[in-house]
Amino acid sequence: MQETFTQLIEQCKDALKAVRDRAALEAVEIKFLGRKGELASLMKQLATLSDEEKKIAGKVANETKEKIEQMIAKAKEKIAREEEKTRADREWVDVTAPGVFPNEGHLHPISQAIQEITDVFAQIGFVSVRAPEIDWDWYVFESLNMPPDHPARDDWETFFIAETKGQKARGEKGRLVLTPHTSNAQVREMEKGKLPIRMININRTYRRQSDPSHTPMFHQFEGLVIDEGITIAHLKGVLDYFAKSFFGPDRQIRLRPHHFRFTEPSFEVDISCGACGGKGACRICKAGWLELGGAGMVHPNVLKAGGLDPEKVSGFAFGWGVERTLVMKEGTKIDDIRILYKNDLRFIKQF
Ligand code: PHE
Repeated sequence: MQETFTQLIEQCKDALKAVRDRAALEAVEIKFLGRKGELASLMKQLATLSDEEKKIAGKVANETKEKIEQMIAKAKEKIAREEEKTRADREWVDVTAPGVFPNEGHLHPISQAIQEITDVFAQIGFVSVRAPEIDWDWYVFESLNMPPDHPARDDWETFFIAETKGQKARGEKGRLVLTPHTSNAQVREMEKGKLPIRMININRTYRRQSDPSHTPMFHQFEGLVIDEGITIAHLKGVLDYFAKSFFGPDRQIRLRPHHFRFTEPSFEVDISCGACGGKGACRICKAGWLELGGAGMVHPNVLKAGGLDPEKVSGFAFGWGVERTLVMKEGTKIDDIRILYKNDLRFIKQF
C-alpha cells in the first residue's frame, strides 16, 4: 500500500513537469485530487483492510494527500509568477490603431427639413404650435369660409373618420376628419385670444392621392401672422426671407394671383429655379419658376370665426408641403416623392 502511495506522488510530479498553464494544472489537480481521482480511489481501497492496517495506511494516505496538495499549490504559484512576467506583453494595446466606429444614425430627411423650417421661422419670432392632426370639420373647413356643400371643399379629397362603437366621430363642430391641410391651426390660434399671433404649425396631413409627386400622408407647414396694420408687404417680406434662408441667398419669390376661400387676396407663391438660376429653359422648372404653395391675406370671415374684428386687425397666412419644399431644395436626388416613405436606407443615408 505504502508503495502505491509513493508511486502516486511520483506520477503527480511527472504530470506537473509537463504543465505550462492554468488549464493543464487544473486537469492534473482533478486527476489526482478530484472526487473521482486517483487518490480517492486508493482511499476507497482502505476500507477493505484490517483495523491495524488501516491505521498505518490511513496515515500514509493523509501524508500523500498533503504532499500532493503542496506540490500543486507550488505549481500554481509558479504559473502565477510566469503570467505576471508576460502580462505587459499580453495586455499590450496599440493605441494608434484605428478604432471601431459604431454605426451612427441620423434624423430622417423629413424630420431634418421640419427642424430647419422651424428654425428659420423661429429666427423672426414665429412660435411653433401644434394643431390637431385629426380635427373637426369646423376648424378644417367651415370656419375657413367653406360652408357645408361648398364646391371649394372638393379640392380637398378628405378622409372622414367613421363612427365606431363608443367612439363619436361627429359633434357640434361637425364630423371628424384627417386634416387635409394645416390651416385648421388658424382659427384654433385666434381662439386663444392673444395678439399678436406669429405662429408656425407643422403637422401631418392626408389626402386621397398617390403619384410621383404626391403621397397620401404628407407634411405641411402653416404660417399665420395677425396684428394691427399687417399688410401684403409683410407677407412678401417673410416669404422672401424664408426663400433666401432655406434655399439660398440668390433665390427670389413671386406672388401669382390665385383663389382660396380663406384668404383674400390669395396667391400662389413661386420661387426662382435653383437649377437654371431663373433663366428658364430647364427640365426642372416652368420658365424659371417653381411653385411652392399658397398664401394670402386672412379673409374677414375667418377673422370673425376666430372672434376677431376685421375692422381692427388684419393678417396673412401661408401654407405648403414639407416634402415638396425638400424636393425643391435637393433637386434630382428625389425624383419620386414616395421614396421618402419607403424606408430604403440607401436613399436615406444620402442626407
Ligand atoms: N391650406 C392651403 C392648401 O393646403 C394653403 C394655404 C394656407 C393657402 C394658408 C392660403 C393660406 O392648399
